[in-house]
Amino acid sequence: MNNTLLKLAAGTTLALGSIMISATATAQKVDPAVQAVMDRSFREQGIAKLDRIQQDEIQALCSDEKFRDSPEGKKKAEALQAAALAAIKPPSDGKYLGNWATGEKIAQSGRGATWTDSLKTVNGGGCYNCHQVSKQEISHGTIGPSLLGYGKTRGNSDVILTYTWNRISNSKAYNACSNMPRMQHFNLLTEQQIKDVMALLLDPASPVNQ
Ligand code: HEC
Repeated sequence: MNNTLLKLAAGTTLALGSIMISATATAQKVDPAVQAVMDRSFREQGIAKLDRIQQDEIQALCSDEKFRDSPEGKKKAEALQAAALAAIKPPSDGKYLGNWATGEKIAQSGRGATWTDSLKTVNGGGCYNCHQVSKQEISHGTIGPSLLGYGKTRGNSDVILTYTWNRISNSKAYNACSNMPRMQHFNLLTEQQIKDVMALLLDPASPVNQ
């Protein structure tokens, strides 16, 4: 997986050597000494700008383990999940499924959004970096659950279509500290690309469901 996808996925703790950032979810203040190390340790290159080392509210919550596991932190997580869910855009034409063969290529590709890419680079989804998706591809990661037989076991009901669309668009809508990159939230995949990986998971003809 490329570094950016990994970083975008890292909603948990951003670690630099032995130094960890712990921001309270309410104030989100970073220790100035830590911030200084962060500022010195990264530089901009190409399309990769320094705003990438700023955590958003949900990442900051997940980085602060003590607060995250407190009753107040759990309430905050629920509120942030609800906000993430409400912000997901459904497909503009109401059609959830694209082309599974294109989806397979997107799932294989971890390209995009790195300093060696340009704004014109077509991003991949890097799904295989974390998931088993088909039997044919034996090189896959295990950070996420296996998606083999995804459509075969779940079917194509409206509930499954919406859930799968939302999961791919913003996994943090269901689990604030999910390690899955927020594909729609960060514009990592276009609407058509999300439709194509949807078809990869749900089309009965897709290798996922054989
Ligand atoms: C950095 C790792 C990572 C990447 C890349 C990734 N995922 Fe995930 N995914 C996860 C994890 C971890 C979960 C488990 C749920 C959670 O985090 O809450 C998950 C959950 C899911 C689920 C829900 C599964 C279920 O049984 O409910 C779907 C569907 C899914 N991913 C699809 C995809 C697709 C499609 C792609 C590529 C576009 C992708 N994922 C890329 C880590 C990843």
